[in-house]
Amino acid sequence: MAIKKKSEKISASTDAITSSLKETRVFAPPREFAKNAHIKSPAQYQKLWEQSVKKPEVFWGKQAKENLEWIKPFKKVLQWKAPFAKWFTGGKLNASANCIDRHVTAGLGNKAALIWEGEPGDSRTLTYQDLLRETSKCANALKALGVTPGDRVAIYMPLIPETVIAMLACARVGAMHCVVFGGFSSEALADRINDCGASVVITADGGYRKGAVVALKQNVDVAIERCPSVSHVLVVRRTGTLVTMQPARDHWWGEFLGRMSSHCPPYEADSEHPLFLLYTSGSTGKPKGILHTTGGYLLGAALSAKIVFDLKPSDTFWCTADAGWVTGHSYLAYGPLANGATIVMYEGAPNHPDWGRLWSIVEKHRVSILYTAPTAIRACLRAGDSWPAKHDLSSLRLLGSVGEPINPEAWMWYHEVIGGGRCPIVDTWWQTETGSIMISPLPGAIPQVPGSATKPFFGVFPDIVDKNGKPVPAGSGGFLVIRKPWPSMLRTIWGDDERYKQQYWSQVPGVYFTGDGARRDKKGNIWIMGRIDDVLNVSGHRLSTMEVESALVSHKLVAEAAVVGRPDELKGEGIVAFVTLQVGFSASDALRDELKKHVAVQIGALARPDDIRFADALPKTRSGKIMRRLLRDVAAGRNSNQDTSTLEDLSVVAALRADSED
Ligand code: WT7
Repeated sequence: MAIKKKSEKISASTDAITSSLKETRVFAPPREFAKNAHIKSPAQYQKLWEQSVKKPEVFWGKQAKENLEWIKPFKKVLQWKAPFAKWFTGGKLNASANCIDRHVTAGLGNKAALIWEGEPGDSRTLTYQDLLRETSKCANALKALGVTPGDRVAIYMPLIPETVIAMLACARVGAMHCVVFGGFSSEALADRINDCGASVVITADGGYRKGAVVALKQNVDVAIERCPSVSHVLVVRRTGTLVTMQPARDHWWGEFLGRMSSHCPPYEADSEHPLFLLYTSGSTGKPKGILHTTGGYLLGAALSAKIVFDLKPSDTFWCTADAGWVTGHSYLAYGPLANGATIVMYEGAPNHPDWGRLWSIVEKHRVSILYTAPTAIRACLRAGDSWPAKHDLSSLRLLGSVGEPINPEAWMWYHEVIGGGRCPIVDTWWQTETGSIMISPLPGAIPQVPGSATKPFFGVFPDIVDKNGKPVPAGSGGFLVIRKPWPSMLRTIWGDDERYKQQYWSQVPGVYFTGDGARRDKKGNIWIMGRIDDVLNVSGHRLSTMEVESALVSHKLVAEAAVVGRPDELKGEGIVAFVTLQVGFSASDALRDELKKHVAVQIGALARPDDIRFADALPKTRSGKIMRRLLRDVAAGRNSNQDTSTLEDLSVVAALRADSED
């Protein structure tokens, strides 16, 4: 991994990103897997991909007919008035009927739709028939509370079956759900409710997390004191925690739904009828309500779930994401359910009561596909091989990763220790905005390279460009853009078309700007280099923080690393690395020097960290994203005025500040 010679670099003025990561291990799809996969060879993938981008309307029209059930057929596949897309206009469908009713009609009523495990160890299984009954009752309850098509319903829940039921019930009546992650504060909840003007909030008395109860209803009470749009609250009894119920406004889910009919005809939604809003943080701080609509979103989720995860009727699919994130929308709920699969859902923390929990769930429910995040993989890697070794993981046939670049060390551990060397790994790149997976190896067709998301999905036309929109040569880093509209793309930012245009379609005129840096290698594999915001500018060279992190983590004593820049008079930015060590090793000045040298050897002297700080943990949000803005403040020795309400553990910040080198 030597740094490239200066002559090979793109000059700083074009704003390309210097890329130095090299990975040469390649894992071809196992023959047996390929034989039975939906897409079986690189040639089959290539042919279909080319067709899909050359004639997208033919491709998507066919897929929409084959993968979704339409109440009324669509007339036109795409109406594109850049940057506003309308897919499958004239068509009518209902997302909940596509995820439930059609499977019941097809005779799968008694098939398990959802296997749920609560953190304390309680467990429930709902068949497709059960899901239809409960969803219909909840849909009727929403109607009884005055919800009409187009209204917004906020869902602030633990990860329990009622969360998915509530989402599907909204879809059933044509209301938009807006799931707010249960780990968010009442402040964050109120901001989102006010932005979307939700009339109903669905919550629970509490949820379990690491053995403690999260007081969800209490947070809702505080939040809606300043949310005039909310007229009703529906409360699931989960923990038995004492809560205050305000008469006329608050209703117990059990009692209220008990009075409802278990039949509710699905709303006949236009293809472009809004399905949901999901908030994601923007670079300016104010959360953006990402709008997804019915037909296009559902097709993206359904087709990608089928092809990327090679979903078969016999699969048990476990996506560990919370419903509060887009992954929990597309691959916990809509994608697999639209395919009639069996999903697994787990309420609690991966280390409760110990680090064997994930593996015990895989064993207990015979999970065949596991989809999780690199941060969880690294945490398990750090906890040690003895935990997975206690469990029978032979039911697994495919593994997935999402949310951030997966460093090759974590990839290899996932592959060997969890996948037993036999399971392909799909490293899936996508965003809240894209709605479904955009770049990923297809497990039976595309050779995997640890750390690379490899190839675009069907219908996806990515490119890597400099700041003038000019494609950069193979091997060079640049901005990742998408050149053609795709069905599950966001339609706008709720209430702010201007910001939508500005944020996604103006940075490089006319194409979708992802905000990520990437490069393509000579084999055409795409490597995601992280957010552009996370790119360092060291002595005029743009460096990906992720690559420096990856180099650090490749040292045998390092468990996890986060790298940020701090202002440096000479170099523009200096590199500060926050590092956690493998269990049983302690920090020392000698190790600090060794790590700096290690990075210099792996990437080049340019990437050598100026400062390394050791800590027991890194500051992360509950979704596992490292809070880089906060780390930048710590690195610069500034007091931080960043919002820490989503931080998992506040004490880690104090510890990081304390371990300063200078
Ligand atoms: C950002 C989107 C997509 C669901 C979860 C996150 C990063 C996502 C990967 C991957 C490298 C990845 C990107 C992207 N990201 N997946 N496989 N490899 N980076 O959704 O919160 O909207 O974040 O997550 O930076 O832009 P999100």
